[in-house]
Amino acid sequence: MSAMKMGLEGVVAAQTRLSRVNGVVGELIIGGFRLEEVATRASFEEMVYLLWHDSLPTQAELAAFEQKLATRRALPDATLALLQAAAQKEVLPMDALRMAASSLSLASNEEAEDALTLLATFPTIVAAYWRLRHGQAAITPDATLSHAANYLYMLTGSQPSAERSRALETYLNTVMEHGLNASTFTARVIISTQSDMISAIVGAIGALKGPLHGGAPGPALDMVFEIGQSSRAEAYLRAKLARGERLMGFGHRVYKVYDPRARVLSHAAEQLYQADGDMPLYDLARHVEQSAVCLLNEYKPGRNLQTNVEFYTALLLHGLDLPTTLFSPTFAIGRVAGWIAHCLEQLATGRLIRPKAAYVGETGREWVSLAER
Ligand code: ACO
Repeated sequence: MSAMKMGLEGVVAAQTRLSRVNGVVGELIIGGFRLEEVATRASFEEMVYLLWHDSLPTQAELAAFEQKLATRRALPDATLALLQAAAQKEVLPMDALRMAASSLSLASNEEAEDALTLLATFPTIVAAYWRLRHGQAAITPDATLSHAANYLYMLTGSQPSAERSRALETYLNTVMEHGLNASTFTARVIISTQSDMISAIVGAIGALKGPLHGGAPGPALDMVFEIGQSSRAEAYLRAKLARGERLMGFGHRVYKVYDPRARVLSHAAEQLYQADGDMPLYDLARHVEQSAVCLLNEYKPGRNLQTNVEFYTALLLHGLDLPTTLFSPTFAIGRVAGWIAHCLEQLATGRLIRPKAAYVGETGREWVSLAER
């Protein structure tokens, strides 16, 4: 019998051309490009095209792809009605996203369409739910805006600046794809049974929602706010570590050096805050980060605990005025592109995913009738 790997840790379960995560040198390759090369340059639409087609689009291909997405942003009436009901129940935004994504089956025609519809409607679902939840009417998507700019527009009702759209686009590009993480694996398992794309994506949303995966950028930001000023950082962090608590936004299972996504997002956050933001907050966060990395090295020597993607995700999305409850759904708006790419790859090249379990239960039991138990 083959060796058991709890949690499938280290098990290679698929071949992919989509991304390579190298935690030893701190490198993330997406579609053949180093993350740093592509995340701040590509538009979200270009990046998705790259993942789905394995090449950058020409101008004509990009225009056609943008058009296909922009014309699919509106939600079916039944989905809007569902979001309205969810808002009355005050469900979590991730649960509203899961329910609404599932309801897209009502308007589904064919698999290729489902991929475009899911990608195009995620921002509409999240923004509409957020507004309905706060007693405001949902905003009709604007087909003249980019995917990222339109999301911010549907949340606020006003067109975002170029800097804000770029910052969000860089974030979405950075979190779009990251190997065989739990939600991506979930999507591949579901589609490997030759189920449908909508089922696979609904399952992936469920996996992303869990605190061990969708992460907790909220608490990382709370920590910076609690510290409040640079002079208090060291004492605050020391006290936390002395109590055996974890510093949110630091450490990673795979990256044992600086997470390349944190590097990209820290630069993006710096540009955003410089252009139109609370620069003292950015400076405070940098100070907290430096102090935390130093102290983690002192309290956990040899563990190589570095800043992870959550720390700067929190800062960047806060700079875009997104409330913390929208951080995970916004992550899903980026990651759905990677989930779909993996589904397409699994359908084209994959095999039914069906691991085994090691049985640790009883054997040789003898039946006792109900009356005699
Ligand atoms: N603060 C303090 N100590 C830490 C931290 C941290 N952030 N992270 C790890 N450690 C310590 C652990 O206490 C442990 O110490 P010990 O051996 O003395 O008991 C040691 O480092 C190794 O920890 P593990 O939990 O085995 O490391 P693992 O690789 O499983 O953990 C994880 C990774 C869960 C991300 C962890 O670093 C953590 O809890 N970080 C804080 C939460 C966080 O930022 N989560 C978002 C992660 S990014 C993402 O998922 C997209």
